[in-house]
Amino acid sequence: MAQEEAQGSSEAPTAPIPSSMDTELGKLVIDQHLATDDEVDKCLALQATRAGSDNELTLAGLLIREGVVTENQIRRVKKVLQASRSSQIPGYQILSKLGSGAMATVFKARQLSLDRMVAIKVLPKKLSENADYVDRFYKEGKAAAKLNHPNIVQAIDVGEAGGYHYFVMEYVEGRTLGDDLSPGKVYGEAEAMDVIVQIGRALEHAHEHGFVHRDVKPKNIMLTKGGAAKLADMGLARAMTDVDAAQAEAGKAYGTPYYISPEQIRGEVDIDFRADIYALGATLYHLVTGRVPFEGSTPAAVMHKHLKEPLIPPDHINTSLSAGLGEVVEVMMAKDRKRRYGSTRDMLLDLEAVAAGQPPLMARKQFDVNLLGGLAEVEAEAPSVDVEARQGAEAARNLNLLLVGLGVGLAVSVLLNLLLVVLLVT
Ligand SMILES: Nc1ncnc2c1ncn2[C@@H]1O[C@H](COP(=O)(O)OP(=O)(O)OP(=O)(O)O)[C@@H](O)[C@H]1O
Ligand SMILES: [Mg+2]
Repeated sequence: MAQEEAQGSSEAPTAPIPSSMDTELGKLVIDQHLATDDEVDKCLALQATRAGSDNELTLAGLLIREGVVTENQIRRVKKVLQASRSSQIPGYQILSKLGSGAMATVFKARQLSLDRMVAIKVLPKKLSENADYVDRFYKEGKAAAKLNHPNIVQAIDVGEAGGYHYFVMEYVEGRTLGDDLSPGKVYGEAEAMDVIVQIGRALEHAHEHGFVHRDVKPKNIMLTKGGAAKLADMGLARAMTDVDAAQAEAGKAYGTPYYISPEQIRGEVDIDFRADIYALGATLYHLVTGRVPFEGSTPAAVMHKHLKEPLIPPDHINTSLSAGLGEVVEVMMAKDRKRRYGSTRDMLLDLEAVAAGQPPLMARKQFDVNLLGGLAEVEAEAPSVDVEARQGAEAARNLNLLLVGLGVGLAVSVLLNLLLVVLLVT
């Protein structure tokens, strides 16, 4: 308001419109919650009244003088502004760095056209030299932008500026599941199932639309303050083979080798939805036991265990967990993907059942299928005694049901035949 008055006033001949530097700085201090809109407006108004005079001050100077921000805070804000200028992406204003992973850095930014916050993943320059990767990056990114699900971090755009390729996505205010787990937190069953069911729904939607995530893990699950869980990096093409990606993360506290499926480790090419089911199972395991399914001193050792070592069921580690949860994780994390759930829908039905305190019927069906399959072909790797015992008990129960069913069926058909004979005779 004061600005408008000053602009129209003959006492302020030099245009008191804030410089673009001041406008950006003003927005940034508000975005970073260092100042309120009113405080910035007040300083801009003060600046306007002094425009052209000897004691003209920048917005930064006024904010410090008025005691709104400290010199150090302004120094940090200016650094972000500089970084934003050196990594210009047309249509977006970079505000701050959110974090970085094995292959890229993620920034918080403002999408200028819609005046909304977004997160931008900027890929390192060396990736742009890989024509095959860039091609997949655009194809997968554009396809992912068509997905729309409350539990998937929305992909918005892909592009290139100054030799850098970037992936624009919905900005999620919150933390990652990995952040939650790193101090050693163990989730209760209900709390864990709430998150895992949400991500199960995200996967069902993605798989239905032909997407396989390939990197489901706690660091790729974002949690909002309102309790929503969102799967991040959907549609982000992988730069390397899954094994190379896993190894690139070697040594990091919660790296990919802890959740990667055996078939990805083997470098198989036809990776499908079942790899995501395995990784979600490993994530659930971590949540409820406080430890990853397979530990090892090197990534190779961890991967070897994914391939060969029988899984200790989570309900044997944390005995407060339901047997149903244990059964679901065993099916999700079967080493042979044929022994996992046959569809993401089946997995979701079981996850929802366990979350509601019901038995996981699909897992039990799968145990039976596995048992029959096991009879037909002797498995290269023997399942654990616990699994065998559980499978044996389940198979016996179902055999009984089958026999009873057959008996009843036989009796009904005999009666119907008798009735037919009586009707024909009379
Ligand atoms: N859409 C988003 N909204 C808000 N913050 C995000 C978003 N995406 C990523 N982040 C933040 O940026 C960090 C880095 O993400 P990034 O995907 O680069 O690495 P990562 O998932 O930790 O590891 P990796 O490179 O193996 O995927 C995340 O840990 C998260 O804190
Ligand atoms: Mg990520």
